[in-house]
Amino acid sequence: MNEVRPIHISGYSRTDHDFYPTPSWVTASLLKHATLRGPVWEPCCGDGAIARVIEQHGLAVVGTDLVHHGYGKGGVDFFACNEFPAGCRAMVTNPPYGEGGVGQRGTNISKGMLRFVRHALELTERANGQLALLVRYQWTAGRRASDLITSGPLDAVMALKRRITWFDRGKDTNAGQHHHAWLFWDCQRDRSLPPRIVFSD
Ligand SMILES: C[S@@+](CC[C@H](N)C(=O)[O-])C[C@H]1O[C@@H](n2cnc3c(N)ncnc32)[C@H](O)[C@@H]1O
Repeated sequence: MNEVRPIHISGYSRTDHDFYPTPSWVTASLLKHATLRGPVWEPCCGDGAIARVIEQHGLAVVGTDLVHHGYGKGGVDFFACNEFPAGCRAMVTNPPYGEGGVGQRGTNISKGMLRFVRHALELTERANGQLALLVRYQWTAGRRASDLITSGPLDAVMALKRRITWFDRGKDTNAGQHHHAWLFWDCQRDRSLPPRIVFSD
């Protein structure tokens, strides 16, 4: 049975393993500003919220997740993966940890993200591929985060002008507290050019 923990900041309940489906407009925004090379790997695919938008865009997606949420293959720990699935050329996900994640009480949020991004970048470089990660915009500015982000072939930072609503609570629904951005790395980018910054709807 899924464990439910209190969120001390927002007052909402958290689902186990940080399962928060990404609204479709967020992925549509990525696709407006990044040309992905498919097939695409979604390594924390949840119920396929990101994957289905990419598929509708015409690219094949391989979905895996630690837990089966109704899409793709469950029981696959991202940290145990040493390479992209065969044939995949891009990785796209909204990782766990981004919305509070492990260590919600202020201990491991940043550490969890750093570990995730480090591993994702290693696998991307190994595949000579592309990587798009949805992260909290504020998180990108920290010393360790920014050093890590710029250590890879960063192509674009796509800041979302709208805040993401993670929970539908009917008439009581509020936008989230945080602004988010897609970070996009591409091993085949022209490295003589600086990364782009895009403010996107
Ligand atoms: C924030 S949700 C995002 C789901 C999906 N990417 C989306 O944006 O709609 C994070 C997902 O990461 C999965 N997850 C957590 N730890 C994982 C791990 N070590 N390896 C693979 N997936 C993991 C959770 O089960 C959950 O589905």
